[in-house]
Amino acid sequence: MARKAIGIDIGGTGIKGALVDVKKGELIGERIRFMTPEGGRPEDIARVVAEIIAAMPGASRWTPVGICFPAVVQHGTTMSAANVSKDWIGLDAEKLFTEKLGRRVHILNDADAAGVAELKYGAAKKRKGLVIMTTLGTGIGSALFINGHLVPNAELGHLEIDGVDYETMASFAAKERENLSWDEWAGRLQKYYSRLEALFSPDLIIVGGGVSKNHTEFLPKLKLRAEIVPAQKRNSAGILGAAWAAADRHAED
Ligand code: BGC
Repeated sequence: MARKAIGIDIGGTGIKGALVDVKKGELIGERIRFMTPEGGRPEDIARVVAEIIAAMPGASRWTPVGICFPAVVQHGTTMSAANVSKDWIGLDAEKLFTEKLGRRVHILNDADAAGVAELKYGAAKKRKGLVIMTTLGTGIGSALFINGHLVPNAELGHLEIDGVDYETMASFAAKERENLSWDEWAGRLQKYYSRLEALFSPDLIIVGGGVSKNHTEFLPKLKLRAEIVPAQKRNSAGILGAAWAAADRHAED
């Protein structure tokens, strides 16, 4: 497996990237962040990703590139699109990036990448059984691991509770939009994680997303059978996980 890989994390507001030491699980050098171009269209995003890679010292043409994206990604094709242009739906994104960047890339769902980072370097390291990673941000992302293996594209943020797609009630964006107190938000999270637990009986639940840095405000309020812990990699989780996945895939090909 390559020691270095590039990780790129595409989101609705920003696109971040860095060169990663995949053995240590650390960024090498600066994290580069650009705004997501207005409209979030495929060609525009691919151009920004190319700029980020060009601005990255220490990466060669052969360095594996992993890109994580807020969508279901099945065999390189983006099947949905959260907070980016609907033009991504059904697009062979792997082909687009390979052409635009002039190198092979590996693409995966953003929450899957964040989960991989926790599994390899963070809160789920060496954990067996069923582990569910959740990211609380604009939406709710999720990643499912069984005995250290990723089951890709679990879309558990969209569990329907009380007749609604519950990411619209329990994401961090919902807390902000509705000005919910930590207590009020924790009430919604309780409902969400209880349902997740009833359906899957996970051994461990990890809570990521930027708000997880404030985990003492809401995690202790949740009553669940499963252990529930904050993510350890937070801001860089997508980058680290995408880089690891690219290096791993490179090694297999
Ligand atoms: C999308 C997921 C994504 C998550 C976090 C959800 O709305 O359906 O694919 O992982 O947001 O970005």
